Amino acid sequence: MTQQATAQIGVTGLAVMGRNLARNLARNGFTVAVHNRSPERTRSLVAEHGDEGTFVPSESLADFVGSLERPRAVIVMVKAGAPTDAVIDELVPLLEEGDIVVDAGNAHFADTRRREETLREHGLHFVGTGVSGGEEGALLGPSIMPGGSAESYQKLGPMFEKIAAQVDGVPCCQHVGPDGAGHFVKMVHNGIEYADMQLIAEAYDLLRAGLGATPAEIAEIFREWNTGELESFLIEITADVLAHTDAATGKAFVDVVLDQAEQKGTGRWTVQIALDLGIPITGIAEATFARSLSGHAGQREAARRTFGDAGEKWQVEDRDAFVEDVRRALLASKIVAYAQGFDQIRAGSREYHWDIDLGGTATIWRGGCIIRARFLDRIREAYDSQPELPTLLVAPYFAEAVSDGVPSWRRVVADSARAGVPTPAFSSSLAYFDALRAERLPAALIQGLRDNFGAHTYHRIDREGAFHTLWATADRSEVAG
Ligand code: 6PG
Repeated sequence: MTQQATAQIGVTGLAVMGRNLARNLARNGFTVAVHNRSPERTRSLVAEHGDEGTFVPSESLADFVGSLERPRAVIVMVKAGAPTDAVIDELVPLLEEGDIVVDAGNAHFADTRRREETLREHGLHFVGTGVSGGEEGALLGPSIMPGGSAESYQKLGPMFEKIAAQVDGVPCCQHVGPDGAGHFVKMVHNGIEYADMQLIAEAYDLLRAGLGATPAEIAEIFREWNTGELESFLIEITADVLAHTDAATGKAFVDVVLDQAEQKGTGRWTVQIALDLGIPITGIAEATFARSLSGHAGQREAARRTFGDAGEKWQVEDRDAFVEDVRRALLASKIVAYAQGFDQIRAGSREYHWDIDLGGTATIWRGGCIIRARFLDRIREAYDSQPELPTLLVAPYFAEAVSDGVPSWRRVVADSARAGVPTPAFSSSLAYFDALRAERLPAALIQGLRDNFGAHTYHRIDREGAFHTLWATADRSEVAG
């Protein structure tokens, strides 16, 4: 059956994210073509939600494409990797010049760049777009981070901005930049998400060890924190998860869950790319490695058997002061994670000539996404007023929060080290801060060592040029490198 070309946009791949995006578009008044490899999903979407808006269902990909107005806009919402390539390969012969293919999954930005280049050769636009907010966000208003051509955004922008979350009347959607820029920004978003969650988990662990508090009591502390500077979606749901009781055992939910955190890989990509770009995203890296470590059950068991659990019982004397110390340490470490993430976006933008607006990125993360937080408004202000800000840490609001937090941060990291409570993200964030602010780093010694064993040369603080010391000679004279 040939369809009439009436739909403004189409979604193929109707698992929960695709289905919810399609519903969101339809609820906002757009006519949405829908398709799924197995047609039962398409049928059930229309049967269950057909009254929410106008859906144009198709059972074949050709009919689906035929049901779309030109230039066509097709959102592909299938698993990242080979399944995405398979759907694109099937779609391309059915499309015509100027049509747009949108990949709204968590694709690696390098794949997006490759696909964009291939489709451009066919006269098609390929748009890799980050979508954050989970299932509920997709339905009620996600944060949307589209890459691809500016021309494709003319068609997609009005629709995406309408279905995105809105904060103070501003949509959480903006054209991020060409080709892979959208997926790159989404990748860093996820890296920050990992860091944010690890820091929250460390704060919980510290409160538990230091206060001997129950998860339900700690939930109340998080609830309280969520009324201040730390207000964010992740802090809010932390309180919910900690307060939850397992129905089967009557125990705290968090005590019956296996302590091995999984990942689908976006955090790992963030760290891998940061290494290539030479950007120290230590908080994100520690968070990613902390998940890996948690999964190494055999090593953990062997170490526990050899060394026992951490030594001494922790005695916190002043409960309120300790809770405030942990709160400040969490805020300061979180600022480090965001500062590092934004550094990585800037470096990626320079490397790939994307011209990403950092203030704009903070703007579209204010709502809808997993890392949405009150202080993203402050990040937006910081980069809007100084786009070349050397690091977020020195923007006035953040500089003050970090300076105020330093004594607490040091106490928490020192106390946790003494008590044997692992705080990799808190500790490495403090070390990063201290390294950045140091007058002199021991990197000078590393340069000396490199020159000694490998004649790698070094620069001096008092003269231009590269130098090498003749280490093997008696007088160790210095020559030009
Ligand atoms: C989002 C999330 C989402 C991600 C999950 C799981 O922004 O909505 O980032 O895209 O897939 O958070 O990620 P991990 O399985 O890697 O923890």
